[in-house]
Amino acid sequence: MTAAVQRREGFASRLGVLTATLGSAVGLGNIWKFPYMTGDGGGAAFLLIYLLATLLVGLPIMIGEIMLGRSARSNAVGTWKRLAPGSHWYLVGAAGVLAAFLIMAFYTDVVGWVFTFIVKAASGELNAVDPKVGEAAFGAMVSNPWHSLFWQWGVLILVGSILLGGVAKGIEKTTKILMPVLFIMLLAVCVRSLMLPGAGEGLSFLFKPDFSKVTVDVVLNAMGLAFFKLSIGMGTMMTYGSYFRDDADIPFVTARVMLADLLVSLLAGIAIFPAVFSYGFTPAAGPGLLFMTMPAVFSSLPFGQFFMTMFFLLTGVATIGAMLSLFEVPVALFAGSGLLGRKPAVIVTTIALAVFGVPATLSFSTMADVTLFGKNAFDLYDFLSSNVILPVGGICICLYTGWIWGRERAQEALSNAGTLANAALVRVWHPLVCFVTPLLVVLVLLRGLKVF
Ligand code: PHE
Repeated sequence: MTAAVQRREGFASRLGVLTATLGSAVGLGNIWKFPYMTGDGGGAAFLLIYLLATLLVGLPIMIGEIMLGRSARSNAVGTWKRLAPGSHWYLVGAAGVLAAFLIMAFYTDVVGWVFTFIVKAASGELNAVDPKVGEAAFGAMVSNPWHSLFWQWGVLILVGSILLGGVAKGIEKTTKILMPVLFIMLLAVCVRSLMLPGAGEGLSFLFKPDFSKVTVDVVLNAMGLAFFKLSIGMGTMMTYGSYFRDDADIPFVTARVMLADLLVSLLAGIAIFPAVFSYGFTPAAGPGLLFMTMPAVFSSLPFGQFFMTMFFLLTGVATIGAMLSLFEVPVALFAGSGLLGRKPAVIVTTIALAVFGVPATLSFSTMADVTLFGKNAFDLYDFLSSNVILPVGGICICLYTGWIWGRERAQEALSNAGTLANAALVRVWHPLVCFVTPLLVVLVLLRGLKVF
């Protein structure tokens, strides 16, 4: 180990490894995307496909990605350069950094909406059983360019200032507080939702499959969501893996994060669908489900304003850990290049993200007519990252870990040099990353992109 490797900061405790990684996974993917995609994709049918994608695609890649990061102890690009010097594998990391920018651009925009809605909900402005009120509030918010930019930049400054604290005192400390808070608030909203008359209909929507709604696009979306939700394929988990302690049990941490992340998604579904059905609203409301339908749903129930505020607040809480990890990808890259210290790297990244985010944010106002392939910047950033770059990055991670590293080297890394007895697990993981996972991703990707 070189001196530079030893001096590199990392997560200080085992709990911190878990909360930071879970913090990255949990976010808008669980509380905004998962419910509206489930609503559009036939409820339980979508859930089932999503589960398969998580187990067969998400989990194996996440294990491989964290393993590579910890082995190299470097950032998204540096990891490849260190492990495969003189080759082109580092381009996978470079694409990942681009994905971090694309995702942050639209992510911070949506988080800006969430923060605005916390204020609006608390002030009572959204108290109306007519969904038109939520619709009007949402429309007025997104069509005002300065308002949207103001909140987006505010969000970036908030996340940037946490990152100034560093990996252990910034990321780890924050997620250790936020994750339990999130679970408690989410449980409270779920209990409220389940106590409503007619809650059963919402539950059966979520747990009884309707396969007639499943199309190729639904399958591609479910897979894209598995990548997005587990923050894989783009170097986030590689960067976090580089902060993992030497004694961390990678497969075990990964499995726990995946299960807890799934639990948060299901709880978000339980918080939303019973209430939606109970008051006769439609589950297939698309990306506006959270902002247009939910205020009307909450306004219909007793203590609605309180629960509505809590709901948007918990959504805001959930997004912080995810944004920290997205932001950390370029920060670690710039700081690791040796050109900038960590603090200047955070400042440069904040400014770059603020500029990059403008087209996504203005997609609903000034730049609504600027489209490429029929998509505005907001949709294009989302599609390109979740449905293209992350899956391609995932395939590369599989091929590299499965075929180039091979089982023995992976076994050595995943067992912490023989300290953990997980050979059987590695024997299952290895054929998955060699054959099953990349093949599934290639098929879904090509079909989704209408190649065949
Ligand atoms: N997993 C996060 C979420 O569900 C989003 C994310 C994607 C974070 C990619 C990091 C990297 O909201």
